[in-house]
Amino acid sequence: MKINKMLSTAAALTAFVIATPVLADEDAELVINGEIEIVTKTAAPAHLDGHLSEIMSGWRFRSDDTQAMEMDDFDNPGMLGAEAGFEQFETVMGSEGKSCMDCHDGVESLANVRPTYPKWNDDKEQVYTIQMQINDCLTERMGADAQKYDNSTMLNFEAALASVSRGMPVNVAIDGPAQSTWEQGKEMYYTRYGQLDLSCANCHEQNYGNMIRADHLSQGQINAFPAYRLKNAQLNGAHSRFKGCIRDTRGETFNAGSPEFVALELYVASRGNGLSVEGPSVRN
Ligand code: HEC
Ligand code: HEC
Repeated sequence: MKINKMLSTAAALTAFVIATPVLADEDAELVINGEIEIVTKTAAPAHLDGHLSEIMSGWRFRSDDTQAMEMDDFDNPGMLGAEAGFEQFETVMGSEGKSCMDCHDGVESLANVRPTYPKWNDDKEQVYTIQMQINDCLTERMGADAQKYDNSTMLNFEAALASVSRGMPVNVAIDGPAQSTWEQGKEMYYTRYGQLDLSCANCHEQNYGNMIRADHLSQGQINAFPAYRLKNAQLNGAHSRFKGCIRDTRGETFNAGSPEFVALELYVASRGNGLSVEGPSVRN
């Protein structure tokens, strides 16, 4: 598949990518608990013209067993994190004696959040991720300490927020005040990193569907984050995933929560505009 594009990618990549027939069922459909229909494949958003015509969730590239774990909340270990997130939401944190519930009508009242973040924050005049927003509520409104980016408390909150938005289309804004951040993220996506001299696009745009070592390459979408990985048996944030992918190129990477990764998150999220929110997901 995609022979022309394969030939034009870095020699480093062609050395270990093998074009193989597809292993997992790329045509399977995802319905969670027999009722939440998840769009895992759809037409690409207009800004991807000339790059991708179809966008696909990473779920399509996983093995039958891994796919099945996400089809029922009782089999999805990521849902334990979401449950913990619901509990945290009702727990008093900080010197003001408040819980999230004091100001928000439950996690469900924030169902519009996961599909639209990262998002421009007018007061702070920058693009905000969900975790940045939660830290503001903790520190400025509850008298609590900030949580470290991608720690388990944050990922539990994120999992709870994602869980109530499952099935809603990802719809992040890329124009207006967010545009320059989006462009910064786009530039990063096509920048080659590390000794292997590979960009995100070299793997996730030009070689998805192929095998890289033992892994079936997806489009590297983040509609399904946070993701419970069987590999480390915990929820993982998108920034931690970016970090791992850049490290695999033997490159210097950025930190979770850094402005660079916020920009990259906005851009990668926008590549999934139209897919359903799917987190917390299960991945290998
Ligand atoms: C003292 C009141 C207060 C508390 C307590 C509070 N928040 Fe908020 N929160 C706000 C306000 C005010 C906003 C801004 C609303 C807006 O921008 O529309 C907000 C915004 C948010 C948003 C973004 C909403 C959006 O539509 O963009 C999220 C997510 C959020 N809070 C999560 C939390 C979580 C999780 C907690 C508990 C750790 C929490 N908040 C505690 C007042 C509070
Ligand atoms: C050397 C190839 C390679 C490069 C370069 C690379 N990745 Fe990955 N990435 C992988 C592999 C392999 C996986 C695991 C299988 C999969 O989901 O594609 C993965 C997984 C992911 C996932 C998880 C997708 C899911 O559904 O769980 C995301 C998100 C991701 N990569 C984003 C990125 C971003 C952003 C960049 C650029 C900073 C990048 N990757 C660079 C190989 C790469």
